[in-house]
Amino acid sequence: MEFQVQVEAGVLSDRNSPFSVKTIELREPRADEVLVRIVGAGMCHTDLLPRVLPESRLPLPAVLGHEGAGVVEQVGPHVTQVGVGDRVVLSFDSCGWCNRCLTGRPSYCDEFGSRNFVGLRSGESVHGVDADGASISTGWFGQSSFATYSLATQRNVVKVDEDLPLEIFGPLGCGLQTGAGTILNAMDVGFDSSVAVFGTGAVGLSAVMAAQIAGAAIIVAVDINASRRDLAAELGATHVLDGADPDLAAQIASVTGGGVTHALDTTAVSSVILCALASLRPLGFCGLVGGGSASLQLPQTALGQGRQASFLLEGNAVPQVFIPQLIELWRGGRFPFDRFTTTYPLEDINRAENDSVSGQTIKPVLIPKR
Ligand SMILES: NC(=O)c1ccc[n+]([C@@H]2O[C@H](COP(=O)([O-])OP(=O)(O)OC[C@H]3O[C@@H](n4cnc5c(N)ncnc54)[C@H](O)[C@@H]3O)[C@@H](O)[C@H]2O)c1
Ligand SMILES: [Zn+2]
Ligand SMILES: [Zn+2]
Repeated sequence: MEFQVQVEAGVLSDRNSPFSVKTIELREPRADEVLVRIVGAGMCHTDLLPRVLPESRLPLPAVLGHEGAGVVEQVGPHVTQVGVGDRVVLSFDSCGWCNRCLTGRPSYCDEFGSRNFVGLRSGESVHGVDADGASISTGWFGQSSFATYSLATQRNVVKVDEDLPLEIFGPLGCGLQTGAGTILNAMDVGFDSSVAVFGTGAVGLSAVMAAQIAGAAIIVAVDINASRRDLAAELGATHVLDGADPDLAAQIASVTGGGVTHALDTTAVSSVILCALASLRPLGFCGLVGGGSASLQLPQTALGQGRQASFLLEGNAVPQVFIPQLIELWRGGRFPFDRFTTTYPLEDINRAENDSVSGQTIKPVLIPKR
């Protein structure tokens, strides 16, 4: 195979080592592919899962990153939706032809796992090569955008306006879309809803802002990190509670007069999920989005009286529809996610990861050198 495009990329060689930034090569775009010059890429906690999930099927070494934003540099011959010079936000990949894709629910695509978590495209691995010609996975979420260039497809790029500060807009493609979409698309929160959000990182804070946009009367934000609780209050939470409080569910029942209609867990901590379920009123719904492998022992009463819970992906969003809507909300000052983004040069990818894991930074965004 011919490799053509030289790229600087943050490469994860094995689960326990830091990223190393090195030169790799990508092939030219095929029929429906686009080559995007990345101007910024958010780091989502899902990017750290290949380190901790023993069952991760992503072949290492790999380039991670699935919240890229950039400018289209080359397009394959069958690409009709974007052209060279267009500004794009990159999101998750999907096949376009399965039942869920055709009915507007691409995050439940039959090929979601293989395309995004394994990096396959039409059954083939998307990979680049290093200086020694060794293979490197570059198909993570259809993009592998911790890099100066990314090989995506026209299905997982979203054309955006030219006047945006594009560097920080990549996180719309996953974390922000997930938090906001779970509230607005999946759970259909409205003015008559009461919402509890467990964990106020990038996903949870986006959910809090979305719940305010939806007009929810009560928005409870729960975190063990006091500064995140403060930010949640500034971004729309009507009540903030410390996740370490032992009687949390009782406190939520007290402020809501009997429990919330909708809960969202972003922590993936088993005890927190049980608390989220316990905070539901009858017929309440609990969305679960936290990645990882939490296992649960559910008391039967947890889902009694019509309560429901479901693991949801990517805010049930169609990225080409939802991301422009979030951008309009950002323009109107109602979705100010730039309050919690922090930029790092791509070379500082390990510092960004450390700050993200320690909780110092809510949403790191890596900026490649020009
Ligand atoms: N389902 C999806 O489509 C999807 C998409 C994007 C991200 N994710 C996942 O969502 C999760 C959240 O992502 P994020 O970027 O917001 O992560 P994050 O780590 O910034 O947020 C999690 C928050 O939970 C808080 N927390 C931890 N333990 C807690 C406890 N016991 N009680 C209360 N709060 C607690 C942390 O302080 C933190 O603020 C991750 O697991 C990520 O992998 C899922
Ligand atoms: Zn599909
Ligand atoms: Zn993500």
